[in-house]
Amino acid sequence: MSESYYPHKTILITGGAQGIGLGMAYRFAQEGATVVIADNDEEAGRQAEQWLQGQGYQALFVRCDVSREEEVQALMRQVGEKYKSLDALINNAGIADPFQGPLQELEMAAFDKMLAVNLRGPLLCARYALPLLQQAEHPAILNISSTRAFMSEPDTFAYSASKGGLEALTHALAVSLARERVRVNAIAPGWIEVGEWKKAEDKYAPQHTKEDREQHPAGRVGEPNDIAEAALFLCSDKAGFITGQSIIIDGGMSVKMIYA
Ligand SMILES: NC(=O)c1ccc[n+]([C@@H]2O[C@H](COP(=O)([O-])OP(=O)(O)OC[C@H]3O[C@@H](n4cnc5c(N)ncnc54)[C@H](O)[C@@H]3O)[C@@H](O)[C@H]2O)c1
Repeated sequence: MSESYYPHKTILITGGAQGIGLGMAYRFAQEGATVVIADNDEEAGRQAEQWLQGQGYQALFVRCDVSREEEVQALMRQVGEKYKSLDALINNAGIADPFQGPLQELEMAAFDKMLAVNLRGPLLCARYALPLLQQAEHPAILNISSTRAFMSEPDTFAYSASKGGLEALTHALAVSLARERVRVNAIAPGWIEVGEWKKAEDKYAPQHTKEDREQHPAGRVGEPNDIAEAALFLCSDKAGFITGQSIIIDGGMSVKMIYA
């Protein structure tokens, strides 16, 4: 076994209080990283912080709505005062429910909110994390996008647009921040089951039908750890020659040819 890259590294995970973000926080912490969870759900954030600290891991929760510039600035100030530098920023926070109704009934406020959280949020976090990332030896940004950036179900306008925008933002940031030595990549997850990674009152036991499993060439629905393992690699210096890229992690669902 090679030595972990992550002891003495500080990783900021937005939306890290639940779901895929919490799954990543857990794996990074297991590898020795200090994890900062930034989330707008205070209750979930406190539970996540306590759960990680209870296992002896280094974890800090900071309440932050990533769509609000002043809150992102305050978050980065707090991280800077406590840790001085940031080795990786993982832009994972998102409104994860893609359905907002048919085009004629779409509420523009809901559309704008989705874009503000899922797309403006990562831009704001990248901007205000940059001075901290510049203090690190091998800084990285990882954006959590979605296979819905590349394909759609009906009535998912804002979500698909936000994730398509995040894919484009990934290469725009990668090229721009290369001057600052910051690598920027994305992971586009498919169906990831997060029922067991929710705050206490929202937890549920996942139940998947045979059809649910078998529509994936991998034979199962994904889990947060599937994303976390790739995130560990992409945020480490082992991925030093990878920037501006997006990796689809969906058990093969999006490459499966369907003849109806
Ligand atoms: N689960 C999936 O199947 C799946 C698939 C593709 C992409 N994704 C993406 O992965 C990311 C995580 O999804 P998830 O399924 O774990 O969702 P989740 O709802 O379980 O977790 C999202 C977390 O983000 C937080 N959050 C929401 N809005 C926020 C804001 N404005 N500021 C700060 N935090 C905020 C929530 O409080 C929550 O803790 C999202 O960006 C989602 O779009 C998920």
